[in-house]
Amino acid sequence: MLITLVGAGSVATALTVNLLRHGHAVRLAVRPGSKRPVPDGAARVDLGPGAAQGSDLVILAVPFAVAAHVVSDLALPSGSVLVDATNPFGVPVPEPHLHGLSVIAAAAGPEVAVVKAFNVVGAEHLAAPQLPDGARPVLPVASDDAPARRAVVDLADSLGFHAVDVGGAAAAPLLEDAARYWGLLAFSGGLGRRMVLVAHQRPDPAGSPSR
Ligand SMILES: NC(=O)c1ccc[n+]([C@@H]2O[C@H](COP(=O)([O-])OP(=O)(O)OC[C@H]3O[C@@H](n4cnc5c(N)ncnc54)[C@H](OP(=O)(O)O)[C@@H]3O)[C@@H](O)[C@H]2O)c1
Repeated sequence: MLITLVGAGSVATALTVNLLRHGHAVRLAVRPGSKRPVPDGAARVDLGPGAAQGSDLVILAVPFAVAAHVVSDLALPSGSVLVDATNPFGVPVPEPHLHGLSVIAAAAGPEVAVVKAFNVVGAEHLAAPQLPDGARPVLPVASDDAPARRAVVDLADSLGFHAVDVGGAAAAPLLEDAARYWGLLAFSGGLGRRMVLVAHQRPDPAGSPSR
């Protein structure tokens, strides 16, 4: 796939390393004049209309406060798939929106499929998610566009996450709260940024898997 990352910070560069290792072509769209380096093997383009032209997937990884403006400026073509990895921390979600994904969807326009994903896992875990014991970080994926959601689940699984299809965009506020929950455990709870949530199943005493 050709994947455009919007931004070149912690999230975008870690995902780029992972995507390149898995054979994808990666382009990072950065604001003109940005001094941030991009990982070897990735292309760099200036943010603006056409920056994501021809991409199979676009992943948004800029601060939420500027995200709507950045998305509008991209002028994504009809049929694009935009993955929102942002979290609306430190700034209120503007009315009448109830969650960050809704703000991003409005900025992208009705012809763009928006997907919430990659927002609940700390940047430290995005480049090489799998743990030494084989466990994979849980990565919920939400979107009202079922094919786009499926594509992102498949991509995330292939990158080493335990991707979970959680259904429509109505789940977005919970995914944004899940990032806060991770922060609660990591910072208030003292578990640190290297903490990652995985899903283990308790064996059913009768021997059959339980759900
Ligand atoms: N860090 C995490 O562990 C983590 C995990 C999951 C989700 N997230 C979310 O992912 C998003 C990115 O986080 P991050 O940690 O990668 O941030 P970061 O390291 O601070 O990088 C932010 C990127 O956004 C760009 N940017 C800032 N203002 C901009 C503007 N006005 N126009 C265009 N580009 C702009 C920066 O460009 P310059 O180089 O020009 O400054 C930089 O490339 C945030 O919404 C965050 O909540 C973060």
